[in-house]
Amino acid sequence: MDQLLSQIEKYKKEIEKFTASDSKEVEEFRIKYLGTKGIVKTIMGEMKNVAAEKKKEFGQVLNDFKLFAESKYESLKESAADSQKSPANTIDLTLPGDDIPIGSRHPITLMRNRIVSIFQRLGFAVAEGPEIEDDWHNFTALNLHEHHPARDMQDTFYVQQNPDWLLRTHTSNVQIREMERGILPIRGIYPGRVYRNETVSARSHCFFHQVEGLYIDENVSFADLKQTLYFFVKEMYGKDVKVRFRPSYFPFTEPSAEMDVSCFICGGVGCNICKKTGWVEILGCGMVHPNVFTNCRIDPNKYTGFAFGMGIERPAMLKYGINDIRLFSENDVRFLKQFTSAI
Ligand code: PHE
Repeated sequence: MDQLLSQIEKYKKEIEKFTASDSKEVEEFRIKYLGTKGIVKTIMGEMKNVAAEKKKEFGQVLNDFKLFAESKYESLKESAADSQKSPANTIDLTLPGDDIPIGSRHPITLMRNRIVSIFQRLGFAVAEGPEIEDDWHNFTALNLHEHHPARDMQDTFYVQQNPDWLLRTHTSNVQIREMERGILPIRGIYPGRVYRNETVSARSHCFFHQVEGLYIDENVSFADLKQTLYFFVKEMYGKDVKVRFRPSYFPFTEPSAEMDVSCFICGGVGCNICKKTGWVEILGCGMVHPNVFTNCRIDPNKYTGFAFGMGIERPAMLKYGINDIRLFSENDVRFLKQFTSAI
């Protein structure tokens, strides 16, 4: 009996000193002291060897021992859970964090966002359309019937399995899709990628990007078109830039024009960029052709509208001093990461 009592004292000291740094060690404690084959159970088993008159006294001691081990187990569990919850115990929060490398925006994206945001401020809403398009939306609805000679101007990639499908040659397909939805008035800006079967060189590629604009309402005039584009040019190229319109031809607009801005590289004096003319062509535009309205079930006697379309590559090349259009699609990080802080 005395021997048992001193053994219990010894275990108590052990238990008191026991520390656990994680839940695995807490579990080890439980198995050792409170498990089915643990020390507490084993000592309880000694009860049968204790003389009858001592049983009550010994029972008390044993019970205290059991409670002691159990409360230690509870407190070990709590502190292990705490240390898991607050990594502050192991991590120095005052240290600077690890760098998370982030990519940079593509120069085409930067230029597109810049163009689009100017028109958004005028209330134009962004929409997009499919790059694989049918003949109707890319050509026919835009007043380019099957044998229209202007189809040859845009060397088209056709889809082999279905001659009615093609890679869109301009973003004007979105114009048609928006008109077909029939929700008027329309004030939209449509950025996207387009494809033309051209020889790839430093100056031209078989795919590039455009932004198309469309404004349809009652009483929209050519004056509205000019004013909108003036605003765009001033925001884009600065207050001092001059603008000129030259008559042009697009099957889907009448009248049609091309717009030039005074060369923002040489200020209009004449340089290599403007080929010594002092002017740089930036977009095509015009009043939506009545046939296009009819094709989209819009009444041309009630509504008028203007449309314009511009490339993104060329202004991006001029702005960032890029001399080869192929660089945009080569994915060379040394090229791409130069535009991190731009705009
Ligand atoms: N779609 C024409 C092009 O790709 C641009 C344009 C759009 C012209 C809208 C007039 C009106 O060249």
